Amino acid sequence: MSESVEAELRFTVPQNDQTVVYMVGYECATITLESRKVEIANGRACQKKFSIETNGFELIAYTSELTDFRNPDAVHRIFKPEAEQILKRLIGASRILMFHHVVRDMAGARSDDNLTASTNTHVDHDQATYESHIRRCLPAGEADALLSRRWAAYSIWKPMAPVEQLPLAVCDARTVFEENLISRTRPAGPHPQRGGLGVAFNPKQRWFYFPDMTIDEALVLKIWDTDRNLPQWVAHSAFVDPTSKRDARPRVALDGRFIAFY
Ligand SMILES: [Fe+2]
Repeated sequence: MSESVEAELRFTVPQNDQTVVYMVGYECATITLESRKVEIANGRACQKKFSIETNGFELIAYTSELTDFRNPDAVHRIFKPEAEQILKRLIGASRILMFHHVVRDMAGARSDDNLTASTNTHVDHDQATYESHIRRCLPAGEADALLSRRWAAYSIWKPMAPVEQLPLAVCDARTVFEENLISRTRPAGPHPQRGGLGVAFNPKQRWFYFPDMTIDEALVLKIWDTDRNLPQWVAHSAFVDPTSKRDARPRVALDGRFIAFY
C-alpha cells in the first residue's frame, strides 16, 4: 500500500469583500472553489498514533448494531446511544448530545438530506450554529447552564459499506489555521442554523486518509471547542482517489453530529 496519494481537493477562494456566503450545491453558491493537487498521506501506517488530543481526529474500531441506516428512527434508536457512549468513553465528557445526522448514500437519490459526499474542504459548523442546535434540543435553562461551560463539537463518520471510493481526507488540526477559515453562513432562509466554514488552501496543511475503511471502523473528528487552546477545526473532504477501482462499490456512510459537554 502506498504511503500517500496525490489527489485534488477543492478549497474556498478567499474574497476580500465577502464575509457571508451562501452555498446550497455548487450551482447556486456565491463562493468560489479552486482545485489544488495535494499529497494525502496514508494514515494506516501510524493509525494508532493519531489522537483527538493531538491531531483532532482518531480512527476507532466501531461495530454497530445498526443495519437500517436509511431509517431515521433506527438511527435514533440504535446509532445514537451507541455513538454517544463511544464518544463519552473516548473523550471523557460528562454528557453527549447527538443533534443531527446525515446519511451519505451514493446508492440512494441525492436530496437535501443525502448530499452523498461533501467534496470540498470544510469545517461542518460555526459556533453560532452549534449553539442554536443546543438551544433547539434542550430546555432553555439547561441550555444556558451547559453553554456557560466548556463544550466541543464532534463528528463521527462511519462507513455503512466498505469504502472503495471517495474516502475522507482529514487535516491535522495542528495545521488548520483560523485565518484560512471562511464563513459560509446562510444569511437567511429556512435553515439559518446551517452556518459552516469553507477552508482556504495553505501549503502547511497536512492531509491524511485511511484507505479501505470497513464497516467496523469510524473516524471521529473534533470540529469545534470553546477552549481555543485545544485542537479543533479538523477540516475534511471526500476526494476522488486516483487508485480506486473502476467498479468500486457505492460509498455509503453515516455522518453523526455531536456536542460534548465537559
Ligand atoms: Fe463535514
